[in-house]
Amino acid sequence: MKLRSIELEVPDAEGAVRFLSSVWGLMDAGARKGVSFLRGTGPLPYVISLASADVRAVAAVTFSGEPLEIEQARSRALRAGARVGPMQSFDEPGAGEGFFLEGPEGQVFRLLYEKDRVERLPADRDRPLQVTHVVLNTRDREASTRFLIEALGFRLSDRTSFMNFVRCDDVHHAIAYAESGISSLNHVAFEMKDFDAVMRGIGRLKDAGIEPAWGPGRHGPGNNVFAYFVTPFGATVEYTTEVERIGDNYKVGGPEDWKWPPKRIDHWGVSARDTAALSEAEKQFTFRRPVL
Ligand SMILES: [Fe+2]
Repeated sequence: MKLRSIELEVPDAEGAVRFLSSVWGLMDAGARKGVSFLRGTGPLPYVISLASADVRAVAAVTFSGEPLEIEQARSRALRAGARVGPMQSFDEPGAGEGFFLEGPEGQVFRLLYEKDRVERLPADRDRPLQVTHVVLNTRDREASTRFLIEALGFRLSDRTSFMNFVRCDDVHHAIAYAESGISSLNHVAFEMKDFDAVMRGIGRLKDAGIEPAWGPGRHGPGNNVFAYFVTPFGATVEYTTEVERIGDNYKVGGPEDWKWPPKRIDHWGVSARDTAALSEAEKQFTFRRPVL
C-alpha cells in the first residue's frame, strides 16, 4: 500500500489549481463535477484534488494498493472496531474502488485500488513525482498512531518529542502526527527527483514572490532534504527529496535519538523558520466532517 493523494476543499479552487500547476509544477489530470485533479510524473492518476467550498478542509487522505491489500486492510479495520464505510466506486481519474474510514479525531482516510492504471512520465527536475507524506496535527498523537497500526497494519518508524512518523511501505513515513491543540493538516510533502529539483523549486517559488517558510534543510527522521512554503490558498506544502527507504529491521527511534544541539533545527543548521506563518497555516485545513 502507498500514500496516493490528498483531497482538499478551498474557497478559490481555480486559484489553487493555477498555483499548483503554473508554479508548483503539477499537471492537469482532468476535472469532474467541479473537482480538479492534478498529477505528478509518477505512475499515479492524480496526487491532489481541489474542490470549491465555502471553507478550507481536508476531504480525505487516500492510500492505494492491490485489490487484495485493500480487502485485507478493510477486514483488519473492521476487526479492530474502526469506523469503516461500505465498498464503493469513485468517479475520478484511476476509477478507484474502495472505502472510507475515520480516525479517532475524525481524520478521513480512504483506501482504494485503481481500475485504470496510468504510465509514469519522464522525471522532470521542475515537476513533483508524487505526494510522499502528509503531516497531520493531532490532539492525541499516540491514539492516532495506534489507530493506523491496529486498523491498517502501518508501522511506527520514529518518535520525537513532538512527532510520530508512521509508514505503510518502505518510505520512512507516509503519515506523521504532530502534537497540537487541534486536529488539522500540518503540511503535504511532494517528492522531487533530486536535490537539484528541490533547489530549483525554491527558485521558482521566489520568482512567484514566495520565500521558503522553512528551509532548505535536511530533517532528522527520514533524513530528507526539505523546503516548506505557505501557498496562496492557505496550505503548507513541501518540496522534498532523498527520503530514507527502510526495511522491517529498522530500529524505531525515540526522542533521545533525535535531539539537536541548542538552536539547531535540522542537520545543516542553515535553515530559517517562519514559525508564525507556519502556525497560522496549520489552522486552516481541518477534516471536513465525518463521512460515516
Ligand atoms: Fe514533511
